[in-house]
Amino acid sequence: MADQQTDGLYAGMRQKFGQQSAGANGYQMSAFFRREQALLYSFLRPNDFPLLDVACGSGLMLAPSLGNGAEVIGVDFNQQACVDARNNGLKVLRGDAFDLPFADQTMAQVVNCQFLNQQSAADTQRFISEVARVLKPEGQLVLFWRHAESVFHRLAGTLIRASERMSGAPVFPQFTHPMAEIETLMTASGLVVVERAVSVPFGYPRQLRPSRIAARVIGASLVLVAERPAKRGDSD
Ligand SMILES: C[S@@+](CC[C@H](N)C(=O)[O-])C[C@H]1O[C@@H](n2cnc3c(N)ncnc32)[C@H](O)[C@@H]1O
Repeated sequence: MADQQTDGLYAGMRQKFGQQSAGANGYQMSAFFRREQALLYSFLRPNDFPLLDVACGSGLMLAPSLGNGAEVIGVDFNQQACVDARNNGLKVLRGDAFDLPFADQTMAQVVNCQFLNQQSAADTQRFISEVARVLKPEGQLVLFWRHAESVFHRLAGTLIRASERMSGAPVFPQFTHPMAEIETLMTASGLVVVERAVSVPFGYPRQLRPSRIAARVIGASLVLVAERPAKRGDSD
């Protein structure tokens, strides 16, 4: 079941930022949003559809891939997010990330950005196995979530939460989820991890290997790409 309490936290943000601003989806700076988006695109297969964005918010993340017959679908539980995403050009279904409104093995790619930090480990496991269910054989899942343990993130998070408390803004649940934990959950759901990266909030390169000390200092998001293996015998 979607978390109605978390859902309610988004009402004020959606009203304040509107449908064209990534601020409504929790991004403090649009430049940072664009960097994350560019990095996401470097992992996407350009011609592999349907492409599903789970917890799509106002749908801005995948907006550049729309057009030319691209089949891009968003799912979000928040009613206003669905209206905004639809206005931003996405096909949208209002639905629950834990009970996706799609048949088994129907999606070529699934994207999920900035959702896991609001989910417990148990719910994250349920979510990943639900995504694995809808992925086609050889389909891929691209996950971005905040690197809550990096020095940059601890500092930024402390400052942002202090200012949110002072201004009376809603305080969202925060779960850390180290990369190894999510890899274990992916493997338990039958997925194979093929890429690991940490996004960097400024400068170049946009991403670092997770083992780099710099990733632990200035890392912004943790990124994992996993594939559902081909059916046994498909490649024989
Ligand atoms: C931080 S926003 C991220 C939006 C978007 N993925 C992005 O990165 O721009 C998290 C989104 O998750 C959605 N959400 C929370 N719980 C959900 C659930 N159980 N099912 C579907 N969407 C959910 C919220 O409505 C919100 O739009």
